[in-house]
Parts: sequence; structure tokens; C-alpha cells
Amino acid sequence: MVYVEAFARQKRFVLHSFSEAEKEGFLIRDFPIQGRSQGSDLYSYFYKNLSYMSTLKGKVAYITGGSKGIGLAIAQSMLKEGMSVAISARSEEALRNAEQQLNAPERVMTIVSDVTRPQDELNAVAKIMERWGQLDVLIANAGVGHFAAVDQLSLEQWNQMIDTNLSGVFHSLRASLDSLKKSKGYFISIASLAGTNFFASGSGYNATKFGLVGFTQAAMLDLRQYDVKVSTIMPGSVATYFNNNEPSSKDAWKIQPEDIGQMVIDLLMMPQRTLPSKIEVRPSRPDLK
Ligand SMILES: NC(=O)c1ccc[n+]([C@@H]2O[C@H](COP(=O)([O-])OP(=O)(O)OC[C@H]3O[C@@H](n4cnc5c(N)ncnc54)[C@H](OP(=O)(O)O)[C@@H]3O)[C@@H](O)[C@H]2O)c1
Repeated sequence: MVYVEAFARQKRFVLHSFSEAEKEGFLIRDFPIQGRSQGSDLYSYFYKNLSYMSTLKGKVAYITGGSKGIGLAIAQSMLKEGMSVAISARSEEALRNAEQQLNAPERVMTIVSDVTRPQDELNAVAKIMERWGQLDVLIANAGVGHFAAVDQLSLEQWNQMIDTNLSGVFHSLRASLDSLKKSKGYFISIASLAGTNFFASGSGYNATKFGLVGFTQAAMLDLRQYDVKVSTIMPGSVATYFNNNEPSSKDAWKIQPEDIGQMVIDLLMMPQRTLPSKIEVRPSRPDLK
């Protein structure tokens, strides 16, 4: 074994060997130095080559709104990387369909949970901890949209968007915080370009997504003190079931849900030292009408 002394500053411990480093999930790529080495060269080489989660195998994620669309695609991407994934939604039937599609019973868990209910989210995380004993990644994805001019928007529509897209994310994060601090994990919210660009008939949805971007960025400043990474992804049009859409060939110009899945994996694999905290993502070419 080649002994190294490398100070993984952000993880606040000292690593003494490659095997110890690997146990902690660090990847040392093509380490060229043989034998005992010391000093800052070794440190800087090691540190430069740290990957945040160099292998995702065995990590556990919780994805709210994971029965369809973006959430389901993120689950698929994570499973390919060897992760275990809990997905939640309100409809049990949709969860059963998703479970079949994911086709990995030993690494998939479905949970009926409504993010608007704080106790549902506490129960969901308790179930994950009971089964897998850890939670490394929370994807707060569940969301709804109602689009109407402000004088047409009903109180019910307003409340549902605020309760789901904004308060719901707080409920999910609050339920996950202890576990994420323990795992030095990652919290990602799925906001929207509607969280930075306002548009007619978007007052309620804009309010929730602007709020969510602010919430997530402030949470990032708080949680990085605990080595918990936080990002918000702000997609433009994605080919999903959102707002009663039925995905089809007419959606080919849109971002495909698996592209957001890939983006999440890229974020998880980003070197520990770097945090893309707010990511805008849009179709390369808008729909040609
Ligand atoms: N599609 C787009 O163009 C687009 C663009 C930017 C951002 N987004 C955001 O992306 C996120 C995912 O949307 P999507 O496009 O994938 O839509 P989708 O295909 O309609 O999927 C939405 C998911 O959220 C779940 N959900 C809704 N309300 C819930 C609640 N109260 N508790 C738990 N789960 C709930 C749904 O299941 P149940 O109905 O069974 O609960 C479903 O699994 C949303 O936050 C949306 O605002 C979408």
C-alpha cells in the first residue's frame, strides 16, 4: 500500500492511505507518486483530484414527485449509477407504474406522501432511514402549475402552488436535514426559469418559483457550513406531464427529462471544492411556431 498523508480540508479529516481515501468515497485518479511522500505537492495533487462523490454506488436518494416526468428520469439516472432511490407522490397507482418501469426492486422504494403535509414528509424520511439507514441526496422536485391571469386565478390554485412548490420543499428539507448533515449530502431543488423570468398568466407560479430560488440559495449559505451541498436547477420547457401535457413527438424540441437526470449526476460528481449553486437550463432552440 502506498501511504499518503492528504488533508481533505473540506471533509475535515486526515486521510492516511489510498484505501482509507477510497472508503470515504474519494477517487484518486492515476495518482503518479509512488512511495511515501509529504508536503504541499502531495496535498495539492490529492486535493485537485478529489471528486465529491466519486462513486455514487450505494448512495441513497429521496426524490419527491418521482412517479413521473423529471423526478422519474432522475431516479432512472441514479439507478444506473448504482444508487438506491426512494420516490414519492400522492398517487399510489402512478408510483406502482413507476416502480415497474424502474425494475430494480431491491434498490427502489415507493412512498405515498403529499409534500404539502409536513408529517407525510417526516414519515417518508423515517421509512428511508429504517430501510437503508442513510440519506445522501434529497431532490425536492414535486410541483404543480396553474396558469391564469391574476384576476382569474382562484384561491385554491394559488394555495395549491404555494403549499406544494414552496412550503412543500421546506417540509421535505426539514424532514431530511439531520440525515443530510450526517451524510454530508446534497440537496437539490427543481425550480424553473419561471423563478427568474416572469410572464403573463404566471403570477402564482412565478411567485412560487422566485420564492423557491431564494429559499434554496439562502439554504445553501446555511448548509454549506455542514458540508451539505445545495443547488437549484431552473429548467425551461421539459417534455413531461406538467400542466396536463401528454409528452409526444411535438415535444421533441424541449429538454428531455433524462437530460435533467444527467445534470443531477454531473452535480453529484462535481469535485468537492466546487458548487454550481444555481443552474439555468433551456432548450437549445425554442419551438419554431
Ligand atoms: N415540465 C416543465 O416544463 C418544467 C419546467 C421547469 C420546471 N419544472 C418543475 O419540475 C418539477 C417536476 O415537474 P414535471 O415537469 O416532472 O411534472 P409532472 O410530469 O407533472 O410530474 C410531477 C410529479 O410531482 C408529483 N406531485 C405533484 N404534487 C405533489 C404533492 N403535493 N406531493 C407529492 N408529489 C406531488 C406528481 O405525482 P402526484 O400527482 O401523484 O402527486 C408527479 O410525480 C416541478 O416542480 C415543476 O414545477 C417543470
